[in-house]
Amino acid sequence: MPDQTITSVSRESRVFKPSAEFKAQANLGSEVTYKRLYKESVNSPEKFWAKQANELLEWRKPFKKVLNWKVPHAKWFADGTLNVSENCLDRHLGTPLENKAAIIFEGEPGDIQTLTYKQLHREVCKFANGLQSLGMKKGDRAAIYMPMVPEAAIAMLACARIGVIHTVIFGGYSAESIKDRVNDCEAKLVITSDGGWRRGKIIELKATVDAALKKGVKCVEHVIVHQRTSNKVTMKKKRDIWWHDLMADSSSEHKAKAFAAENPLFVLYTSGSTGKPKGVLHTSAGYLLGTTITSKYVFDLKETDIYWCTADIGWITGHSYVVYGPLSNGATVLMYEGAPNHPEPDRFWDIIDRHGVTIFYTAPTAIRAFMRWGDDYVKKYSLKSLRLLGSVGEPINPEAWMWYHRMIGKKRCPIVDTWWQTETGAIMVTPLPGVTPAKPGSCAVPFFGVVPKILDETGQEVPKGEGGRLFLTQAWPSMLRTLWGDDDRFKKQYWSEIKGIYFAGDGARFDEDGYLWVVGRIDDVLNVSGHRIGTAEVESVLVAHPKVAEAAVVGRPDDLKGSALVCFVTLKSDKAASDDLKQALRVHVAKEIGAFARPDSIRFAPALPKTRSGKIMRRILKDIAAGVEVKGDITTLEDIKVVAALQASD
Ligand code: PRX
Repeated sequence: MPDQTITSVSRESRVFKPSAEFKAQANLGSEVTYKRLYKESVNSPEKFWAKQANELLEWRKPFKKVLNWKVPHAKWFADGTLNVSENCLDRHLGTPLENKAAIIFEGEPGDIQTLTYKQLHREVCKFANGLQSLGMKKGDRAAIYMPMVPEAAIAMLACARIGVIHTVIFGGYSAESIKDRVNDCEAKLVITSDGGWRRGKIIELKATVDAALKKGVKCVEHVIVHQRTSNKVTMKKKRDIWWHDLMADSSSEHKAKAFAAENPLFVLYTSGSTGKPKGVLHTSAGYLLGTTITSKYVFDLKETDIYWCTADIGWITGHSYVVYGPLSNGATVLMYEGAPNHPEPDRFWDIIDRHGVTIFYTAPTAIRAFMRWGDDYVKKYSLKSLRLLGSVGEPINPEAWMWYHRMIGKKRCPIVDTWWQTETGAIMVTPLPGVTPAKPGSCAVPFFGVVPKILDETGQEVPKGEGGRLFLTQAWPSMLRTLWGDDDRFKKQYWSEIKGIYFAGDGARFDEDGYLWVVGRIDDVLNVSGHRIGTAEVESVLVAHPKVAEAAVVGRPDDLKGSALVCFVTLKSDKAASDDLKQALRVHVAKEIGAFARPDSIRFAPALPKTRSGKIMRRILKDIAAGVEVKGDITTLEDIKVVAALQASD
């Protein structure tokens, strides 16, 4: 394919049009069709979504009612029934997809395993029977704490098959974080592995689960342990069961039951503006429809694709675009267990060439790391199988976009910069690769049924080109339904900033062409290497340390991570500051939350900047952390001298 056309080269106005070749083969390649469908999707959403739901999903009992919308509670296709696992597996059996690879797995040590749709179906059926033999039934919760191995997807699909609500906990979380999540949703079961490979070392997952369950967890009856690394683990009698033992006794015949469209599918915990993580609840048909339709049109999925999304199943991207969306489309999904730089920083490019990956979806923080490791690692590979690239998780800076376009996409692959959230379930704003000209750094235009608005504090729309807060004003099928056990927080967090419309927590602007530019979070949530971390969560861990009196955590712009975590800490009066204590506090946070939340910098300060009413003025701390002049009004500060002391802190 020839280069995509560059119609203009000045910064921000560079525009990359899809090539004629890409357009011609795209699932959606006509601008006229896109415009017509978009119009219909926002003007007659029920008609649009009814048609898509009938075309893209397999129903046991067809729905009659499309949407029941009592702000902020939505019910989509409520009188219809289906089974999500059946939609991802059984419907491909007896078709030419049956013997096609559903999952190609590559472990970090280099082991490779392929599961066809038929084989994956068999494993899921066996595991579903195994779960049932342990007494798991519709509505029960199961926590999954596993590495990126096919068994993680098998566990998710088996839960979905029998109506068990899964909550996947990212393998980097600590025992304390597991305990909080397991207790919050009262999981009866934990599914884990003995370990997982990361940079040549074993991450001891089972040992971490054991530690979590010793911390005061009463709800867990069983732990299923998949053997991945064969490291020694302790198996507690009656409670712990080996995956392979459970499977050995299970039949591969399993007739999936039909569940109501609104049956809960999973809870996924994400960070919010308080110390307590939020359990985002997604239900069945609407979520599956959102992930299926976006996989089809945004990734332009075809039967011949080898599709690789590098996200871990512990995050929403792994749920929606490693498991549910691609499998429902009958795609071949590549799963890789380990680190991108093991044994060398060329591992991803090697995987792409060896497996013939055609679609590659990753995060800007990874792209920036590759840029830093150097072009030589990329140049050894042809990457000629690639035809589409994607980005997700944080704003992609134009430099990284251009490098991705040139070095990985060889100027021939469209890039889809997809904006969405754990809460939205599926991609909301994105270019369509066969239709939308891309601008480096912008996530472009709304997907079907999505109506984004940028509003000021009074709820007025801001003019194009000006920044404001991002809202979504129309209900969409894959929207979160509530927060587990905390509907009040759900209403307050998302629906009361401006009453009745969804507040995304992001700052953004539209440009003259109606392209969306997301700046980043404007609440107390940081995006560190594409991971959401609540500042309040880190603060509450810090103040729990015996030597700490007070803590305030802010983000500092970072070339690689997007945001770096900077913690301002005041110590109890009889405690002395030292480098050792700094290190101890960093380790403390990593131990309590997870290594990915390890602070980049701890700064000891005699006091924090507060208003007379005692509120910490974070914007001052942000400026100090960034090493820039403190801007804006500081006359409301209770003690103006604090600023100078903070600036002098290290
Ligand atoms: O700030 C936005 C940023 O990531 C947040 C959502 O984080 P999470 O729920 O963990 O989901 C990440 C994967 C979907 C958003 O509020 N974000 C995500 N994608 C983009 C982005 N910011 C800019 N551009 C994006 N493409």
